[in-house]
Amino acid sequence: MKMLKKSLCALLCLIMLVSLCAQSFSAAQEGTTPRRISVTVNGDPTSSRGLCWYTDVKSASLAEFYTNALLTGEPISVTSSEATEWEGAYMHKLTVTGLEAGVTYYYRVGDGTNWSEVGTFRTDDGDASVKFIAVADVQASSLENFEKGADTLRAAFRTMPDADFVANCGDFTNDSTNEEWDYYDQAFAQMNLASTLVPVAGNHDGLGVWHWFDNMFNLDTSESVQTLNGVNYSFDYGNAHFAVLNTNDILSISDAQIQWLKNDMNSTSKDWKIVFMHKSPYTLGKDGKWPDALYLQDALAAACDEVNVDLVMSGHDHMYLRTKPLTGNAVSEDGTVYVLAGTAGSKRYEIRSFLGDTFLQTEFIDALAVQKNGYGNYWNGKNWHSKSDTNIGGCFNCISIDGGTLTLKAYILADAKDENGNDVITNVDTYSVTKAVGENQSSFEGDNSTGELDFYTGAVTSFGSLAAYTLTSWLPKFFSILPEILRVYIKFGTF
Ligand SMILES: [Fe+2]
Repeated sequence: MKMLKKSLCALLCLIMLVSLCAQSFSAAQEGTTPRRISVTVNGDPTSSRGLCWYTDVKSASLAEFYTNALLTGEPISVTSSEATEWEGAYMHKLTVTGLEAGVTYYYRVGDGTNWSEVGTFRTDDGDASVKFIAVADVQASSLENFEKGADTLRAAFRTMPDADFVANCGDFTNDSTNEEWDYYDQAFAQMNLASTLVPVAGNHDGLGVWHWFDNMFNLDTSESVQTLNGVNYSFDYGNAHFAVLNTNDILSISDAQIQWLKNDMNSTSKDWKIVFMHKSPYTLGKDGKWPDALYLQDALAAACDEVNVDLVMSGHDHMYLRTKPLTGNAVSEDGTVYVLAGTAGSKRYEIRSFLGDTFLQTEFIDALAVQKNGYGNYWNGKNWHSKSDTNIGGCFNCISIDGGTLTLKAYILADAKDENGNDVITNVDTYSVTKAVGENQSSFEGDNSTGELDFYTGAVTSFGSLAAYTLTSWLPKFFSILPEILRVYIKFGTF
């Protein structure tokens, strides 16, 4: 009998132990599931990518790369790194190099036992063409509004299924909290798994939420003037050179970053020079009256003139606006075209008409689409085309470069579906420009990084430049429109 009791006890203990182990094993599995997976441009897009993902518990960081979607056979590359803690979870960053140009890769990330779903990206084939999607300002707080932004990007992929990458011009979230980044992940995960991202730091991703942007994506920070509130970086794709700016820098851009941009654009002999950034120098939205963004008309535009930037794409003001080519803050045939990319999300701004001919010469505007209900739908520089409210929705841009021709098309995905339940996508702007190729010569070589001391000492002169602009140029114009600002505030409760 004693023997039987002992045996039963031992069996019970064994069952309890197995059950505890099973529980802790499943908890470990739970906590090691990769989430927030993104693949970003990092270095040479013909041969490398940056990967970033999160897990709830600390686990190994592994990525396997294959050239078949079923991940059969031996992986062609296995890369590993170390996880680090960030805001209650574990960040995994890993950069894969040595890939072949023009190849579609399939990958999974995980700890070697627990793997993610299969993702894919295609490396640049090195020819003289590139296609990309540009969106901005999802800036959501609720899952529902992140889903609306994701619907816009899905429509962009249906419109340009062979896009090489997606440039997101910033304000991924509203408050950059764990909850919002998880909602972003839930809504955008499938598209992030199927494409390469070029993220741009928005003010909602950087100001006062230190290091979040840098910790959400694996970017090349080797030349970034700082990484506290964003990252500036650059890359080649096709026959274009792209620079990504951080307009959270010294409200909005430091002298050091301007110098970095000039050196960076002077270091390329690519045919096209394109800038992505968040704040817009030329806008009719409510943020177009503040000196931080308007200072870009002064400092950034001068740099773009000097190094012959073809196109600047930005966000921040939640409407679509394209300028004519500008040089020296005047219309000129060979100047830089500035595109405010519209909002892909559901927070949209009205026009502040008092900004016209004060902070933005209306003759600069070549196209405008106001996404907010109650306003005209789009404007071609001469006339409004107010077809119907069905044009009001999320905005996306599809840009293709083929040799000497760049074509930009802006679209709005209507909030309302048609009577058959189908999406309504309206092309609100088409812009095309052709130029001679093979003419750009690089004139800068060497180190383009900024030392910490240089950045901080330069910050003093940067503040000085911004203050001088604010007092001498911005303030008199602001006073001239103050009665209008007050009138709008009294009428609408916002300005
Ligand atoms: Fe913004």
